[in-house]
Amino acid sequence: MASTTSSAVKCFKHDVFLSFRGEDTRENFASLVLVFGRACKDYGVQDEAKLIRKIVETVSQELRSVNSIFDEKLVGMDHGIGEIESFIGTDLDDVCMIGIKGIGGSGKTTLAIAIFEKLKNSFDGASFVDKVCVVSKTSGLQSSQKQILSDVLYHQGIRVHSVYDGKAIMKKRLASRKVLAVLDDIDHINQLEALACACNWFKSGSRIIITKRDELVLVAHGVKWIHNISLLTGEALSLQ
Ligand SMILES: Nc1ncnc2c1ncn2[C@@H]1O[C@H](COP(=O)(O)OP(=O)(O)OP(=O)(O)O)[C@@H](O)[C@H]1O
Ligand SMILES: [Mg+2]
Repeated sequence: MASTTSSAVKCFKHDVFLSFRGEDTRENFASLVLVFGRACKDYGVQDEAKLIRKIVETVSQELRSVNSIFDEKLVGMDHGIGEIESFIGTDLDDVCMIGIKGIGGSGKTTLAIAIFEKLKNSFDGASFVDKVCVVSKTSGLQSSQKQILSDVLYHQGIRVHSVYDGKAIMKKRLASRKVLAVLDDIDHINQLEALACACNWFKSGSRIIITKRDELVLVAHGVKWIHNISLLTGEALSLQ
């Protein structure tokens, strides 16, 4: 890219950015490309043409994943997406924790995935932590802390020696990042304390979405916005 003429640079900017709406989206995209470029250099990719091809492949893959989730036949999802988006849009300068509650099989994870895929590119970093309650028993909560740090900071080599250590690293490293995190299937408050203990762990504008079968732990953790998936709504009855 260093040898590109100024008119070619102008054309490149026009072609790439035409389909991106809003300053934030352009900035996020540009910073992602920068991070990706540095990561490639770290892994020894020196050839610019190869680097650009890799960037195009990765961006195309991301765009495909956004579309594919909405290709599925999901019933009555619009109401849930709309309500959660309205929660996400309030208090933009604050960090906000949002709960999704509903009985087993009511679609909490499916809804969280739909929201995550729709919005993840508007944040500095995003992480979907699947089945926290299971992972906490099998690999320990430090493995979920490591996942969030790796996803958000785009760096795989982070070491987390203990949950206590993980909390300290998260608090220090995530404070400058606008984060979208989904903590799926929480069943104990110690999981929230390990993965999203306080709003001041994250930069303002961050959004933490937590799925849980009931609201007790959510309320105890101070989650104000809770979307309830009720199977008795008209939309859900159309599943029959
Ligand atoms: N709106 C929907 N339309 C069609 N299928 C759906 C919808 N929501 C969920 N499903 C399907 O229902 C099943 C259960 O959904 P999901 O795993 O999201 O439930 P859950 O509430 O997270 O359950 P659990 O509490 O056990 O984690 C999945 O197979 C999913 O594809
Ligand atoms: Mg689930």
